[in-house]
Amino acid sequence: MTTIEKQADVPAPRSAEQAPLLEVRDLHVEFHTREGVAKAVNGVNYTVEPGETLAVLGESGSGKSVTAQAIMGILDMPPGRIPQGEVLFRGQDMLKMSNEERRKIRGRKIAMIFQDALSSLNPVLSVGYQLGEMFRVHQGASRKEAKAKAIELMDKVKIPAAKERVNDYPHQFSGGMRQRIMIAMALALEPDLIIADEPTTALDVTVQAQVMDLLAELQREYNMGLILITHDLGVVADVADKIAVMYAGRIVETAPVHELYKRPAHPYTRGLLDSIPRLDQKGQELYAIKGLPPNLLKIPSGCAFNPRCPKAQDICRTEIPKLAPVTERDGGELVGRGSACHFWKETIHG
Ligand SMILES: Nc1ncnc2c1ncn2[C@@H]1O[C@H](COP(=O)(O)OP(=O)(O)OP(=O)(O)O)[C@@H](O)[C@H]1O
Ligand code: SF4
Ligand SMILES: [Mg+2]
Repeated sequence: MTTIEKQADVPAPRSAEQAPLLEVRDLHVEFHTREGVAKAVNGVNYTVEPGETLAVLGESGSGKSVTAQAIMGILDMPPGRIPQGEVLFRGQDMLKMSNEERRKIRGRKIAMIFQDALSSLNPVLSVGYQLGEMFRVHQGASRKEAKAKAIELMDKVKIPAAKERVNDYPHQFSGGMRQRIMIAMALALEPDLIIADEPTTALDVTVQAQVMDLLAELQREYNMGLILITHDLGVVADVADKIAVMYAGRIVETAPVHELYKRPAHPYTRGLLDSIPRLDQKGQELYAIKGLPPNLLKIPSGCAFNPRCPKAQDICRTEIPKLAPVTERDGGELVGRGSACHFWKETIHG
């Protein structure tokens, strides 16, 4: 890695008690394909604390899911490879653990919710059986106890008439209810961290909001960390604490959620915000970021966003911008803010 690429803000090691719940450090993931090496994740750093929600945002192909898969240890390897990086769970690097050690963390300490409940649930087993299985396998519960726990969980995620529906099969539930069942599965063992990858994308808008509210409510109640992966800025405004915006496998902007909306410090984030439909602009043509995300086999030199960026200058084609702290005009600190743009000052302060 060149010095230009090196991230400036990799924090110093801390003891297990002081360590964040999850800390991803300089994570790289590549896929070795017949066409070449696709660099899907190129030096991602982030932390999540108990009770905190980090939204990871970016267009399709920006590396959001691959980062999550690397954290969970469910990456396809090969073709995937993690050439460098650390995934510290309470200070312990999960990438260095044995499969056995990792399995103990997965499900119990870190659980994942996927977009597509129908393909994650087994169609020939009742929902109650699948929920109960978590308790039978992990806690040695009897069939009766497991069923009672399954009903309790279905109540918890507000599935009406849980007692009557516990023996129903996945296809007998609506999309929104199935996604609640996925949340129940993730919650079963009371994990410390949930990674939700586009958990509401397949649902219609009103149901999306209900499921997202439920997830946020349960997260507060259990004081869990939550990584919420989405390409929809509209979804995260009410639930996230902070946002990491990804582009071509890098984090290009980090900020507390409301500050990002008010004053983006990266032209890509500005483009994403300008492309959200707004009620007060009905009838006007919606802005769209020009061009397409890059081919990961051939990421543009310098700033990967330069071919699409309205502010690009010569330096943008040669030097990779570091994720650097964003400050007020007078140099005053802006906590949690960073931008990987040579011209972040012009972007945020205009
Ligand atoms: N098993 C694989 N083999 C080869 N390339 C892969 C594999 N899995 C992912 N990729 C590539 O890694 C890149 C990042 O993919 P990723 O799934 O993380 O994107 P994403 O940000 O989650 O996008 P989306 O919003 O569409 O879910 C993509 O270009 C994808 O083609
Ligand atoms: S570094 Fe240059 S190309 Fe990249 S976002 Fe900033 S202005 Fe645009
Ligand atoms: Mg994805």
